[in-house]
Amino acid sequence: MSTFSDQVAPLKQSALAELAAAPDLAALEQARTRHLGAHGQFTALLKQLSSLAKEERPAAGKLINDAKIELETALAQRRTELQLKASLPQEPTDFTLPGRRRPLGKLHPLTQVTEDIVRIFRKIGFAIADGPEIEDEYHCFDALNTPADHPARDTQDTFYLGTPNPLLLRTHTSSVQIRVMQKQPPPVRIVVPGRVYRRDNADATHNPTFQQIEGLYVDKDVTVGDLKGTIEFVFRQLLGGEVKIRLRPHYFSYTEPSFEVDFSSPLVRKMGKDWLEIAGCGMVHPRVFENVGYDPEIWTGWAFGFGIERIAMIRYGINDIRLFYENDLRFLKQF
Ligand code: DAH
Repeated sequence: MSTFSDQVAPLKQSALAELAAAPDLAALEQARTRHLGAHGQFTALLKQLSSLAKEERPAAGKLINDAKIELETALAQRRTELQLKASLPQEPTDFTLPGRRRPLGKLHPLTQVTEDIVRIFRKIGFAIADGPEIEDEYHCFDALNTPADHPARDTQDTFYLGTPNPLLLRTHTSSVQIRVMQKQPPPVRIVVPGRVYRRDNADATHNPTFQQIEGLYVDKDVTVGDLKGTIEFVFRQLLGGEVKIRLRPHYFSYTEPSFEVDFSSPLVRKMGKDWLEIAGCGMVHPRVFENVGYDPEIWTGWAFGFGIERIAMIRYGINDIRLFYENDLRFLKQF
């Protein structure tokens, strides 16, 4: 039997040498088939076992199996080596090549405009205030002297949540005027940027969600001149010296007198208009002061509410409001 067992060691040695020398994964696979495959040399040896005498079979079988295990270990090891080699770059790395820059994101144009407006107001002493987007009717309407039969309170104009004491998505940031005045004594100097909601269908100039910035200034002897001067200062800073502003008489229930603010600039004229309406404002109504516990005989003030989208459209010459919400990178990259 020595002849049979003697075959195993040299066969194993040459198989091990071949596996170790395989230059790539294809060559390794060929070597595996040759030695360990269904028609390989070790399989052939195993088949010859049956020709041995019965008492010799266990020892010979063990010898072959041990050799197979050793070969399979060597195979797995070489495969790992070759896989690693295949995954490395074929050319040496050139560390002097310029790096690849990751594209940096940036702020949405509406956020940029909001931050710029807020920054200018901070320069002249205004603080930022905030309030809830889900409001109650009191802060959104009643306290602002807007009676229950006012059309702004129609369910067609606003999104209501629940009955009989409904909450609603705030239709303007003016509700925050009330929340701030309820919490602090005068004087007050705040701006309130934030999201508001209306039951509008989207078109080139409307969207059911949009952004406003509210302003409120309460002190002694405040005048319409202060209001106009402040608005002019802020928007010349924001949009340049050629900007013209006009106050047009209007009606809001929480201001008296009330105005709408129109804007004119070279860009507005390019859009085919002389004036563009961008805000409502006025002198705070005495009843609003009474509602928050301020004495209207002592305190005076003005308030305004601007549409941020409108301002961004003027600033960048954009003619469709929906572009702001589509998140199309080709649009957003331009700002
Ligand atoms: N809340 C008004 C709107 O959404 C804008 C407005 C008008 C705000 C007059 C004010 C104001 O603070 O005094 O259309």
